[in-house]
Amino acid sequence: MWMWSSSSMENLVVLLGIVFMLSPTSTAASDFNKSLEAKALLANLWWRNNSSASNHCSWPEISCNEEGSVVKIDVNCLNYCYRYQYCVQNWLDFSSFPNIKALSFDDCKLRGIIPEQIGLLSNLTHLSLSRNFLSGKLPISFTNLTQLVALDLSSNYFTGILPSQIRSLKNLVHLDLSRNLFVGSVPPSFGSIVNLTFLDLSGNHLNSSIPWELGNLQKLERLNLRDNNLDGTIPSTFGYLNKLKILTLGMNHINGSIPLDIQNLKKLEQLDLGRNDLVGAIPRDLGKLSSLFYLDFSSNKLSGNVYLIPNPCHLEHLDLSKNLMTGNIPNGLSRCYLLEYLDLTRLLDPDSSNQTVIAGTLGYIAPELAYTMALTEKCDVYSFGVLALETIGGKHPGQLLSSLNRFSGYGISLADILDSRLTYPSDEQIQKDLLRVYNVALACILTDPKYRPTMRSVSQELSR
Ligand SMILES: *[C@@H]1O[C@H](CO)[C@@H](O)[C@H](O)[C@H]1NC(C)=O
Ligand SMILES: *[C@@H]1O[C@H](CO)[C@@H](O)[C@H](O)[C@H]1NC(C)=O
Ligand SMILES: *[C@@H]1O[C@H](CO)[C@@H](O)[C@H](O)[C@H]1NC(C)=O
Ligand SMILES: *[C@@H]1O[C@H](CO)[C@@H](O)[C@H](O)[C@H]1NC(C)=O
Ligand SMILES: *[C@@H]1O[C@H](CO)[C@@H](O)[C@H](O)[C@H]1NC(C)=O
Ligand SMILES: *[C@@H]1O[C@H](CO)[C@@H](O)[C@H](O)[C@H]1NC(C)=O
Ligand SMILES: *[C@@H]1O[C@H](CO)[C@@H](O)[C@H](O)[C@H]1NC(C)=O
Ligand SMILES: *[C@@H]1O[C@H](CO)[C@@H](O)[C@H](O)[C@H]1NC(C)=O
Ligand SMILES: *[C@@H]1O[C@H](CO)[C@@H](O)[C@H](O)[C@H]1NC(C)=O
Repeated sequence: MWMWSSSSMENLVVLLGIVFMLSPTSTAASDFNKSLEAKALLANLWWRNNSSASNHCSWPEISCNEEGSVVKIDVNCLNYCYRYQYCVQNWLDFSSFPNIKALSFDDCKLRGIIPEQIGLLSNLTHLSLSRNFLSGKLPISFTNLTQLVALDLSSNYFTGILPSQIRSLKNLVHLDLSRNLFVGSVPPSFGSIVNLTFLDLSGNHLNSSIPWELGNLQKLERLNLRDNNLDGTIPSTFGYLNKLKILTLGMNHINGSIPLDIQNLKKLEQLDLGRNDLVGAIPRDLGKLSSLFYLDFSSNKLSGNVYLIPNPCHLEHLDLSKNLMTGNIPNGLSRCYLLEYLDLTRLLDPDSSNQTVIAGTLGYIAPELAYTMALTEKCDVYSFGVLALETIGGKHPGQLLSSLNRFSGYGISLADILDSRLTYPSDEQIQKDLLRVYNVALACILTDPKYRPTMRSVSQELSR
């Protein structure tokens, strides 16, 4: 006996769709689809309150094509979730949206797994589900979404390995899987998604080495692998990434030396290699990268002479702290008005109690650092102050430092510190400028670190 069942209902729906598609009156087809889409939307908590609004295409989160079929759903629940305790919370019936191209449910407190049914949305070009509570493995049907250009699943609780099948999403330009619980390796096959300009896998538990194949991603502008358990060396193939602007590999266990090929990355603006196990020297020609303004090499085992760091004045942020470098801090630093953050603390082996080693930089090291190894930004402000005095004085202030009034800093006059080989400037503006640098420098070398200015305010004062 023929009975109504959900599957015969589905067949009927499909049949009706075909009938309407074949029928000459396309308005009927659109109406039919519209009602299917509207019904699917209204089944979701988010739109339930809006059932009175007649045309779902006019709802703020919905965009439709000319036929009145939904092509884009863009929901950010942030304000609703936190202010009104009102979130999307449940999925849509994906089978009801044959023409959808873009779907975003960000900050919506979505929980559980992504349903396999998502594979039905094979026309999808943009999918964003960031900052939810999604968990489990990525559905296998994801490989069906071959039109995807942008995929953002960041800040969820996804587990399992990164499926190498993601390589079948060949049109991807933007891939963000950061801040999840992914384990295992960075799939070498990611190197075949050649149109990627943005790849972020940071904040997971990935524990392989970095595959050299990523060097094939020649359109890449941002690569972030920070905060994983990656080991091995930085592939020298990274030298081919000549569009790269931001390279972030900090907080891993990457070892070996920094490949010289990094110097080829002419567009590089930010380089973070901090908190790894890198050894050897910083490549000399890194300083020729004229766009570079952010450099973090902190907490490695880098050696070599600090003085070799070329052109520090391009930089706004320089962190060389906690390495094994030796030598004097570069003279030019005191003229680096752009520099807003400078950390040179503990450049030397922290375990070394050998005073002759530290003597090389002693004149620049804040007293509390030399004696106690206390690590504060204020130590660098001190170093900066000494350098500034050296610059306007033409020599290391040396004995002057100890003759300064240790409590106020105002023990000596400008004339005392100015380079005696030069005639005292008669130009009033130059006198004023020198005095300004001089006063800032004095504030920087105050004995008590808590009265020294921050590097930022030093920079602001000097660039006035
Ligand atoms: C209506 O939906 C069917 C399947 O549900 C789809 O094949 C068809 O392209 C849609 N028609 C329009 C005009 O959106
Ligand atoms: C939705 O409707 C429910 C019940 O009528 C109401 O409590 C809630 O505040 C409404 N939410 C919004 C965002 O309008
Ligand atoms: C409900 O509809 C109103 C008016 O169209 C709109 O301002 C509001 O953003 C909608 N609310 C939700 C949760 O979509
Ligand atoms: C994809 O879009 C095309 C054209 O808009 C449409 O004919 C087709 O049915 C869609 N495919 C799916 C799986 O919905
Ligand atoms: C993949 O997409 C096709 C249409 O392009 C659809 O027929 C099929 O059911 C989808 N597969 C999965 C696993 O969703
Ligand atoms: C990459 O992008 C180019 C230009 O936008 C496009 O022509 C090409 O088809 C894309 N390649 C792949 C594999 O999607
Ligand atoms: C990486 O992590 C996976 C999953 O936790 C584990 O099975 C594997 O042994 C780890 N591999 C290495 C090289 O540590
Ligand atoms: C770098 O780390 C890998 C993996 O932990 C190890 O096999 C290799 O010996 C290390 N290389 C160096 C130079 O320390
Ligand atoms: C300190 O370092 C110098 C130079 O490297 C060395 O000659 C001297 O023996 C070291 N002293 C101690 C106590 O380790």
